[in-house]
Amino acid sequence: MPKFLGKVEFPVTIELGRGLEGAITNITKIGYVDGEAGHLNYRGYPIEGLCEHGNYSEIAYLLMFGKLPNRAEQDAFSAKLQAGAPLPPAVVKVIDALPKDANPMNALQAAVAAAGCVDREAGMVATHASDPASSIETETNVGIRVLSVTRTAAAYIARSREGKPIVTPDSSLSFAANYYYMMTGQKPDAITTKVMDVLLILQADHGMNASTFAAMIVHSSMSDMYSTVAAAIGSLRGPLHGAANQAALDDLLTVGGPENAKAWVEDRMAKGQKVMGFGHRVYKAYDPRATVLKRYAEQLCKQRGMEKIYQTAAAIEEHVLAAMKQAGKPIFPNVDFYSGVVYHVLGFAAPFFPVIFAVGRTAGWVSRVLEYLPENRLFRPRAVYNGDTDLKYTPMSDRK
Ligand SMILES: CC(C)(COP(=O)(O)OP(=O)(O)OC[C@H]1O[C@@H](n2cnc3c(N)ncnc32)[C@H](O)[C@@H]1OP(=O)(O)O)[C@@H](O)C(=O)NCCC(=O)NCCS
Repeated sequence: MPKFLGKVEFPVTIELGRGLEGAITNITKIGYVDGEAGHLNYRGYPIEGLCEHGNYSEIAYLLMFGKLPNRAEQDAFSAKLQAGAPLPPAVVKVIDALPKDANPMNALQAAVAAAGCVDREAGMVATHASDPASSIETETNVGIRVLSVTRTAAAYIARSREGKPIVTPDSSLSFAANYYYMMTGQKPDAITTKVMDVLLILQADHGMNASTFAAMIVHSSMSDMYSTVAAAIGSLRGPLHGAANQAALDDLLTVGGPENAKAWVEDRMAKGQKVMGFGHRVYKAYDPRATVLKRYAEQLCKQRGMEKIYQTAAAIEEHVLAAMKQAGKPIFPNVDFYSGVVYHVLGFAAPFFPVIFAVGRTAGWVSRVLEYLPENRLFRPRAVYNGDTDLKYTPMSDRK
């Protein structure tokens, strides 16, 4: 297939890249990725400072409302998140009914869709179409509930497959700490809470990626926020999007120790194979999320007495960077390289890595569709038809 499909004159002249590469969906103030400079910001705030000083619910507020919350705004937002946290009994039943070995992303998608069946305000936007302010307020509140219930469902899916009982949300804990608690049944210590916050913040938004676009397409038909997030989860499930960190971790565990890293990297390169967790379609510099996560990975591994896995990762990085420099290719670690390490050290099983990613990214999905809502226009791209025309229908008895 050619990379570019050609010029289309209607409705505007545009070069069509495969996978809509280079196409513009809308104008946004939510977040900005500068791949050449290795820069990522949310609402103008560079990601490094947000991770260092912020917590996830504060950053979710920033993404949704465009400003860092003051104390009263944060308290009101947290109260709404807490109110939306308990899992409705119907959703518990849906999760319990699913096979224990189901892909957890499929389970999460089903749980979020089920939660939409019991939220009576979901889908009210179309009803309120004549009253835009009321639509946006309603949809914002639904979005906050979706964010909260997606986390609780994600936590229960992890427990349910191990036959463990549901853990009721603890309103004294922060969003990220509560997620860890509901997954593991253990209250997190300070470093674990910080790492959970950082993981969720780093994954909260990242430009017009596939799952975000999926969310925007679904919501642009005035569908409800639960259907929107469920569709985005479906998109994130794929290995080209949300699941690269599993492969990166598998490689790390195979290498076994820092002393094996050089030979392993050389072998990969000699065979022309990619090293998982390196390279990025947008970043042609060091992924800023990897820079942040590397630091926390080191701290966490030290605190949990698992330095070897960090040292192995650092050694692989050193040798890949040296090889890439020699080859003149701008390939650096991406967020998946160190997130796999962190998830593993926190004790999460690999199939749940994309689930945690989905919980973090829900703030971005919700924020982006809310931003688009006031100027909503149904997404309706076109395909270039290059098939036959004017074929004659043949009866089945005459077909070969
Ligand atoms: C993410 C990815 C698809 C980006 O692809 P891309 O922007 O199309 O980059 P390219 O594949 O054009 O890479 C440019 C060159 O670097 C090489 N390269 C890219 N990623 C590499 C990696 N992880 N390991 C080794 N070499 C790599 C390519 O083979 C290519 O070499 P060539 O010019 O000799 O053909 C790619 O880097 C990759 O597959 N990485 C591994 C999977 C991964 O970590 N995915 C998570 C992304 S967040």
